[in-house]
Amino acid sequence: MTYRGVSQKLTTLVDYAHMASAEKGAASSGTDNLGSEETRPRPATTSAISPSLSEQRFEDLLEAAPDGIIEVDQDGNIQLANAAVERMFGYTRAELLNRPVDLLVPQASRGMHHTHRAAYWSHPVTRPMGSGLELLAERKDGKSIPVEISLSPTHYKDGFRVTAIIRDISARRAADQKLREIQELHTRQLATANEQLEARNREVERANRLKSEFLASMSHELRTPLHTIIGFAELLGEQLEGPLNSKQQRFVEHIHRDSLHLLELINDILDLSKIEAGHLEIHPTAFEFSMALGEVLATVRHPALAKSISLESVCENGLNIEADRVRIKEVLYNLLSNAVKFTPEHGAIRVKVGAAAGHVEISVDDSGIGIPAEEQASIFDAFHQVGATTRGVREGTGLGLAITKRLVEQHGGKISVESAPGRGSKFTVTLPLRNAAVKVKDFEER
Ligand SMILES: Nc1ncnc2c1ncn2[C@@H]1O[C@H](COP(=O)(O)OP(=O)(O)OP(=O)(O)O)[C@@H](O)[C@H]1O
Ligand SMILES: [Mg+2]
Repeated sequence: MTYRGVSQKLTTLVDYAHMASAEKGAASSGTDNLGSEETRPRPATTSAISPSLSEQRFEDLLEAAPDGIIEVDQDGNIQLANAAVERMFGYTRAELLNRPVDLLVPQASRGMHHTHRAAYWSHPVTRPMGSGLELLAERKDGKSIPVEISLSPTHYKDGFRVTAIIRDISARRAADQKLREIQELHTRQLATANEQLEARNREVERANRLKSEFLASMSHELRTPLHTIIGFAELLGEQLEGPLNSKQQRFVEHIHRDSLHLLELINDILDLSKIEAGHLEIHPTAFEFSMALGEVLATVRHPALAKSISLESVCENGLNIEADRVRIKEVLYNLLSNAVKFTPEHGAIRVKVGAAAGHVEISVDDSGIGIPAEEQASIFDAFHQVGATTRGVREGTGLGLAITKRLVEQHGGKISVESAPGRGSKFTVTLPLRNAAVKVKDFEER
């Protein structure tokens, strides 16, 4: 390698450091214009080290640099190359020095390279080469390698030279490519998983609809013979066709009570299946809320009294609502019968009804056994029961709240629960005062 003056070479190294930071800036800002880096006057000296020591240090630095560094004169001939260039391109330095730099440019780009070089000489500044382009260099064995190149002009007494710092970015490109492939693979896998999930969802929906339809028709079929059993059990109990002994009377009572229980269960299943299959119709009428509430309170008063539970209700008089009266009574009954069922003796139940902003809010508050937080969402699922009632056994089937929630939602309302074990439960239902299916005008004209 031929070294000219130590101080001149050191300025090239200063440039190298400078370009590295300029390159970083360009990469982050996305520009290639390093106009402020116009050829600058060189500092008179770059080192306080003695000249011979500086020369050695410069040589060491140049040789240790991980990037290829070449210096090209105005005729386009390589005047300097470091060890990294030899490794990167597979040429010995002897094969490179005083040879045209085009040797390192792929055949296809040589014509253009010549033009670019001429343009650079007319405006020599420190800048990345071919900014925004994917640059390729050619090795001695003819293989192309992706590179990043920074150029900086150097002043000498006998003219300009260009220092090019060449970085082999094959590893980075390969990593980028690998990353792209992994991303594409993940995107494809995700798309396939989504398709499978959609297909499964459609399948589940279909199965659910079939189940609801099956349950609906089966419950319907079961009700007819059950009505016969109940009717004949009642007839037998009335003893119009002859007297029954006490044992026979007890048997008939059992048949009658359990048949009624079965009918209730079948009706619930039928309701739920109809709601789920979208076949349950709501028939809204305008009615006074306190009247409907009074009727439901009358049916739960007796079982509440049997457990010495106080039953209190506050309801605005004259509060009219547009809804399906039978279904709203069912909602109230489910909440109140639960409150009685899950409140121990001497407890209290409070019902509060109030209207605000086009809605009626009904809360049923009890001092009962409460519901653990982790169960509060599941109690609205069909057949979900948390535990025993205050009588120490499970009563009912766990359909009440599932039906209640669906009926409330079908009215355009919402139901929620606040509860803590041992501290009681509060169920709140919010219903629109006017049923969404009924026009406001119709309601006002009534
Ligand atoms: N007020 C309440 N206090 C404590 N637990 C309650 C209360 N209301 C409901 N639950 C819990 O939620 C479960 C589901 O209630 P849901 O009304 O759906 O069923 P059920 O009352 O057990 O049976 P069904 O209503 O079908 O006769 C109950 O089994 C109970 O564990
Ligand atoms: Mg219930």
